[in-house]
Amino acid sequence: MDLKEAIREVEGFPKEGINFKDITPLLKDGKAFRNAIDAIVNNIKNKDIDIVVGPEARGFLLGAPVAYAIGAGFVPVRKPGKLPWETESYDYDLEYGEDSLEIHKDAIHPGTKVAIVDDLLATGGTTKAVIELIEKLGGEVVAVEYLIELEFLNARELLKGYAVDSVIKYN
Ligand code: PRP
Repeated sequence: MDLKEAIREVEGFPKEGINFKDITPLLKDGKAFRNAIDAIVNNIKNKDIDIVVGPEARGFLLGAPVAYAIGAGFVPVRKPGKLPWETESYDYDLEYGEDSLEIHKDAIHPGTKVAIVDDLLATGGTTKAVIELIEKLGGEVVAVEYLIELEFLNARELLKGYAVDSVIKYN
């Protein structure tokens, strides 16, 4: 099946001018969900990966099953104030304002080989922040994996030097 058919496009969500890519139809379709996870796993199966990092919230939905499939651990990156232990945090600029992401300080160690898994690559800002957090803790980002990539936003420029893959592309 064409996985793109399982993505619902919602015009004007969450605000005017945005054509939101809704993955909930894909997630509730057992075959499509499995195919999506298998496709991501296929992109990293030859790499040696200790930890999959998934950013809140949709990165949890894809990152955890990918980690399970490859026998790696899973580490969440969360929005501020959600993680209970000592955290490393990174502030980054949004179109309007600022945002911040956090990771547990003991989640990654020097030399840990990490794959980042998220549902969507748009501007790349979220991924860049996640990379900063991982590298601050000494981890090595060996793969950056998405279900969906909005190619027309050229995020790969920002992620130059990293091994980036996506399963479904919009251009
Ligand atoms: C979305 C998406 C990615 C990010 C992509 O998450 O799941 O993490 O935005 O955008 P970027 O490449 O421009 O940074 P969002 O912040 O909406 O969080 P959510 O998954 O909790 O809804």
